Amino acid sequence: MKIEIKYFSSTGNTLWMAHRATEIFERLGHEVIISNAERDGMEYRDESELLGIFYPVWGSTMPDPIAYHVTRIKASARKMFLIGNCALFTGDTGLYWKKHIEETVGLYVFYVDHVVLPMNVNVPNFNWLKVPHARKKEAIMAKALKRLTAICRDIHLGKTKSRGHNPFGKLGGWLQRNRHHWAYACWIKTMATDRDRCNGCGICSQLCPVDNISMLDEKVVFGHKCIFCLRCYNLCPTNALLIGEGTKNEARYRRYKGAFKNTVKIILEDKKIKGR
Ligand SMILES: Cc1cc2nc3c(=O)[nH]c(=O)nc-3n(C[C@H](O)[C@H](O)[C@H](O)COP(=O)(O)O)c2cc1C
Repeated sequence: MKIEIKYFSSTGNTLWMAHRATEIFERLGHEVIISNAERDGMEYRDESELLGIFYPVWGSTMPDPIAYHVTRIKASARKMFLIGNCALFTGDTGLYWKKHIEETVGLYVFYVDHVVLPMNVNVPNFNWLKVPHARKKEAIMAKALKRLTAICRDIHLGKTKSRGHNPFGKLGGWLQRNRHHWAYACWIKTMATDRDRCNGCGICSQLCPVDNISMLDEKVVFGHKCIFCLRCYNLCPTNALLIGEGTKNEARYRRYKGAFKNTVKIILEDKKIKGR
């Protein structure tokens, strides 16, 4: 079958997951087209028979760049699966988007699930679930790969699943969805650059998915389009981007250096290459 996967990833976890899923589907005999929604949008190819979205859970919903596109999906195929990933809690995210996509786009979302991947948020007032150290990160990813393999097998066999029906998940999801933008706005107001650490390399500006960062005389200038993906904060090579003065303390506020050893390079390359 021709499967087409779209994904959005801030710090590489979803990118890692979407590529591992591609390999699994290919081993199961499928042809897979994979592309980055941040770069290519949500227009699926006419020849694709089964559509998939991989996304990180943000406040029990999809990140804005993909949520915007999801209700504008253009596709000939009528069947879709949604695979999220989170660090701890997704609530009813997949189910919420299943309903939304079925109502607005008319696709049948037959499979909804998620896997757990490493946390990428350690900021003031949200610092209790730590960004994992290398060994813990490896263990989380090994477990995630097992789960992803089972999910891909299910999809290959045409099984159906809709995770997120329990009342606790629904209530938690609803609460998070209604508060998360407010929380991001509070954090965004405190974004700054540590002048002593910043070497003016401009990597933050190249990484930003919404072109919100520019460099002026080797100094970082923030615009007003930040979506709080934390890519710049986490992946700055010198940890010069701050969310409040407290985040100068790197032991207390750990940065997540991404799913790969060379996450910055992989994300920058992924922003350029067209889907294969
Ligand atoms: C703005 C933001 C909000 C997040 N909200 C949640 C959440 O509600 N629940 C959760 O378990 N993880 C949450 N996370 C953690 C990510 O979902 C998780 O680390 C994910 O694997 C990151 O994937 P990525 O590297 O592809 O962006 C959030 C991360 C960010 C940046």
